[in-house]
Amino acid sequence: MTYAAGVDVGSTQTKAIVIDEDRRIVGRSLIDTGANVIQAAESSYVDALRQGNIDEEEVGYVVGTGYGRFRVTFGNSQVTEISCHGRGAVHLFPDTRTVVDMGGQDTKAISVSADGEITDFCMNDKCAAGTGRFLGAAAEALDIPLDDLGPVSLQSTKATKISTTCTVFAESEVLAWIGKGKKIEDILWGVHTSIASRSVALMRRVGIHDEITFTGGVSRNGGMVKALSDRLEKPLNISDDCHYMGALGAALFALDNVMTGRAPVADNVGATS
Ligand SMILES: Nc1ncnc2c1ncn2[C@@H]1O[C@H](COP(=O)(O)OP(=O)(O)OP(=O)(O)O)[C@@H](O)[C@H]1O
Ligand SMILES: [Mg+2]
Repeated sequence: MTYAAGVDVGSTQTKAIVIDEDRRIVGRSLIDTGANVIQAAESSYVDALRQGNIDEEEVGYVVGTGYGRFRVTFGNSQVTEISCHGRGAVHLFPDTRTVVDMGGQDTKAISVSADGEITDFCMNDKCAAGTGRFLGAAAEALDIPLDDLGPVSLQSTKATKISTTCTVFAESEVLAWIGKGKKIEDILWGVHTSIASRSVALMRRVGIHDEITFTGGVSRNGGMVKALSDRLEKPLNISDDCHYMGALGAALFALDNVMTGRAPVADNVGATS
């Protein structure tokens, strides 16, 4: 058996996925990217191999993706995260036509065709206002663990209107609302609905088509899943693997090479570096 792997070095977290020839996930890993990007790529890959009890020699091809894809020093080639999230989403949910990827730094809206080709995409402009970092700043200001963001926000009965769109000012606005006696859950729900409306505006720029798959680390936040689907007035595809979607897509591109001997088509869809 030959295996294939994808390593998604994101601005915030690094994800690795190893798949077998039947496209089954046999190993996965998730770590913080931190300051040493090369080290993060290596560590997550080694963890995923260990989890699958697989030797490095058994892996036929590795594709790097994410902002740090060129730092995957052991990678055989690189594919942009736009292509990888699209490919992964169509693999897990074949009827996906729109993908929304909310990571630590960027939110991306992607249109895909039935065969997983990217037909359009759009990204928030060099600003983390609609992303995990904004949520992280609010969580920190309220001294709430990341895992509790969703559950706490879902207890809200009335969203507090959040006016800032800048991560830098999120903390002071949240603290100001606390000072005015607003409930934590209402402030948090306000943060979620504000991000959701900006994300839906981004999605409208590529067109919102059935079905919609939510990827990236923020898809683990049930509050954001609800805020987005309320705003869209339709359900979203999500799964425990959605945080790994870029790495999964990269592993599928890598498997193309293992099966056909042809390297993934070098692509620059959405490349900013
Ligand atoms: N368990 C969790 N609950 C809620 N949010 C989470 C959880 N785990 C991660 N996140 C959020 O996901 C974000 C990281 O997501 P992801 O790994 O997709 O980002 P990235 O790929 O590093 O970033 P980018 O794609 O913007 O470069 C974190 O900023 C955090 O807000
Ligand atoms: Mg990412």
